[in-house]
Amino acid sequence: MSVTLEVNGETHVLEVSPTRRLLTTLREDLALTGPKLGCGEGACGACAVLLDGTPVVSCLLPVAAAEGRAVTTIEGLARGDTALQDAFVAEDALQCGFCTPGQIVSATALLAHTPRPTREEIRAALAGNLCRCGAYPKIERAVLRASGQAVA
Ligand code: FES
Ligand code: FES
Repeated sequence: MSVTLEVNGETHVLEVSPTRRLLTTLREDLALTGPKLGCGEGACGACAVLLDGTPVVSCLLPVAAAEGRAVTTIEGLARGDTALQDAFVAEDALQCGFCTPGQIVSATALLAHTPRPTREEIRAALAGNLCRCGAYPKIERAVLRASGQAVA
């Protein structure tokens, strides 16, 4: 089946099974390896991408479901305003970095509709992004910093 995807502002026409995971297509067909395969079951958020601006777990999404919609990966976000990425670096908000693309994808969506989120709103928005390194306090500080709020 021919599937047309818009990923990071670029159009791709791919011959793939419509049930192929979006994550697999991103990583293996388009060489976009920022989204990670963690659990593969929708539970960890490592594979998160934006679909029309909303975070989704790409490991559960059939590629055909993304047709006609704007897919944005961490690679696409890196081409734009990097204030959030910079805040992660400034707050040392990662250890192994495996979860970081997903954390930034979810935080980007949060800041798009809530520019100055509370700590509770940050925790709620990132609840689907697990960090096996336990960097949660620093991730929260990074999102606060990126939103221009004081980091205590
Ligand atoms: S790899 Fe998709 S949610 Fe864990
Ligand atoms: S920094 Fe290692 S999983 Fe989050």
